This record gives sequence, structure tokens and C-alpha cells, in this order.
Amino acid sequence: MANYNKPDFWTLKARKEGYPARSVYKLRELDEKFGLLPKGGSGGASPPFRVLELGAAPGSWSLYVLRTLRERGFLAAADLAPLSRRYDGGLFDRDNFFFIQGDITGADTRDALLNRGPYRLLLSDAAPATTGSRQIDTLRSLELAETALDYAGAVLAQGGNMVVKVFQGGDTAFLLKRIREFFKTGKSFKPMVCRRESFETYYVGLDKK
Ligand SMILES: C[S@@+](CC[C@H](N)C(=O)[O-])C[C@H]1O[C@@H](n2cnc3c(N)ncnc32)[C@H](O)[C@@H]1O
Repeated sequence: MANYNKPDFWTLKARKEGYPARSVYKLRELDEKFGLLPKGGSGGASPPFRVLELGAAPGSWSLYVLRTLRERGFLAAADLAPLSRRYDGGLFDRDNFFFIQGDITGADTRDALLNRGPYRLLLSDAAPATTGSRQIDTLRSLELAETALDYAGAVLAQGGNMVVKVFQGGDTAFLLKRIREFFKTGKSFKPMVCRRESFETYYVGLDKK
């Protein structure tokens, strides 16, 4: 049985490379596979590439986005928990980053995030605190995924893309159906870095209708 308390290879690698959590490698793999973030070029006079991130703490995905986009991007992020300031080197203080500590299902957080849109990319790694009951956990995870889809409907630009985490076991077929209503392409993808034992996976919506 896996020992979840002991930092594993990926956790240690993440810290060494300046990220608070191993989850950064999941986003990196998703980005490499689906080309989520624009790379290279100064961006010229084009407007910043705006990203919305739900469930951002401790902040590995945020740092990956900010380090990839640099001054060409803007990121708005939210989480119930605060971000770790250990590895950001001041990136979280810049003007192209906005963070709100709050519940993504609540009106205040929603308003703050919607006001800063529209976005070209929506990332949701939000996950409920696990209870030990797989049934409850998958249900709560699906509710968070539905919330993310609701944000996509409200504030993701046409042609925009979305990634959302979900625990497997619930009605994920329905979730995929909903994603395909919003996006021209909808698929599931489980990054290699997810623990073999983990029951989480990601759904990707490409090219919002
Ligand atoms: C797996 S962690 C995210 C890790 C993050 N992607 C990173 O790379 O550092 C899941 C996060 O979802 C957040 N979360 C769960 N429910 C939430 C809610 N209703 N509103 C805001 N954040 C929530 C949790 O607080 C937790 O920090």
C-alpha cells in the first residue's frame, strides 16, 4: 500500500524545481498534450492571454501558468485555502495575477472572478476534502466540476478551452455529455503522474462553441 505521508519522487522533484506540489506535472502533461498555453513570442500588441483557475492552492498550477505566460498572460485564481508563498519569488504580487481566498460556489468569489473575465482558458483542479466515503467524495467532486462548467458558460470566451478534475466513479458520462454541449471537443485524460492508486481524472473541453 502506498505511503501518502512520505514525499514521493514527484513531490521532491516539484520542490526542487520551485513548486509547492507534485500536481504541477499533471498540468504540464495536459499542456503538452493539448497545447493549453501559448508559448514563445513577445505577444506584441496582442491582449494578454487570460486564464481562470479554480482550486488553486497551494499554487503549483498558478506558478506554472505565470512562468509559462510571463508578461503575455493574466491569471485570476481562487481557493478556500491561501497560496504558499514559498516558491513564487514575488510572482503572486504582480499586476497580472489576482487571487481571492473564498468558495468558488459563493457569490462574492464568483463576482470577483467574473468581473476579471472573459478568459481564454479555465483550469479547475478543485477537489473536495475527502471523507473516506467514495460515494460522497465523487458526488462532491462532480458538484465542483459542475460549478466549473457553470463558470465556463458564464465567462469563457468563444474558442476557449477548459480542464476540470473529477473523481471517477460518479456520473462522469453525464459530465462528459455536458462538456460536449459547451465545447466542440470533449475528452477525458489521466496524466501519467497521477498516482496509480488515485481515482482522479481530468476532462478537457476544447474550442468553446
Ligand atoms: C488538489 S488541490 C489544488 C492543487 C493546485 N492545482 C496546485 O497545483 O497547487 C484542490 C484544491 O481545491 C480547493 N477547493 C475545494 N473546494 C473548493 C471550493 N468550494 N472553493 C474553492 N476552492 C476549493 C481546495 O481547498 C484545494 O486547495
